[in-house]
Amino acid sequence: MWRQGIEQLLREYSSVTARFMVLATADAAGLPHARTVVFRDWVDTNAFAIVSDVRHDKITQLTNNARFEACWYFGEARRQYRLGGTARILDGQGNATPEDQACRTRIWQGLSEATRAQYAWPTPREPLEPAALEAATAPPAEQAAPSTFCVVVCDVDHVDELQLDASPVPNRYEHRRIDGDWTRTALNP
Ligand SMILES: Cc1cc2nc3c(=O)[nH]c(=O)nc-3n(C[C@H](O)[C@H](O)[C@H](O)COP(=O)(O)O)c2cc1C
Repeated sequence: MWRQGIEQLLREYSSVTARFMVLATADAAGLPHARTVVFRDWVDTNAFAIVSDVRHDKITQLTNNARFEACWYFGEARRQYRLGGTARILDGQGNATPEDQACRTRIWQGLSEATRAQYAWPTPREPLEPAALEAATAPPAEQAAPSTFCVVVCDVDHVDELQLDASPVPNRYEHRRIDGDWTRTALNP
């Protein structure tokens, strides 16, 4: 399955940059927006987690349109995965299940101090407030995650895999989840 391929690459290439992917979302006008995010962990067989701030545009976009595409390129291995699916925001609000609460807490507790501090920063995209930025301190890991913190659970239902390292031509595979089972089809690259 595609996930085993990614897990193998994460084992082989343990640098932090191997965990960077580009997450694309659409806004209310249908316009695309893409940005780099960090893969945090698998949270389910088909789902991975990233962390974000509820005040970011991507969260508004995903709340209105949960479809995402994440493009993950492993440069050293020359392999690209385009992961498509539906995102869920775990912001600790509303009727979150105990599992969702536990997931949000576990991931919060695993973040570095520098990352936790970002959730105390003043509002993103507002005019620069140097004093407020400088004064921001990291909420402690052992306390409840702040209301600005959320986990985005990205549930994958199709994958376009491109192996540029294959010879004489790249391998391209389409993986589709149908009724819970995955199919894999070899395609022309
Ligand atoms: C290397 C790198 C890693 C990043 N990781 C994250 C991340 O995990 N989560 C996140 O919300 N933003 C992350 N960012 C910042 C985003 O790329 C983006 O600037 C920010 O989230 C605001 O995006 P938005 O306004 O489209 O929501 C990262 C940026 C870089 C350069």
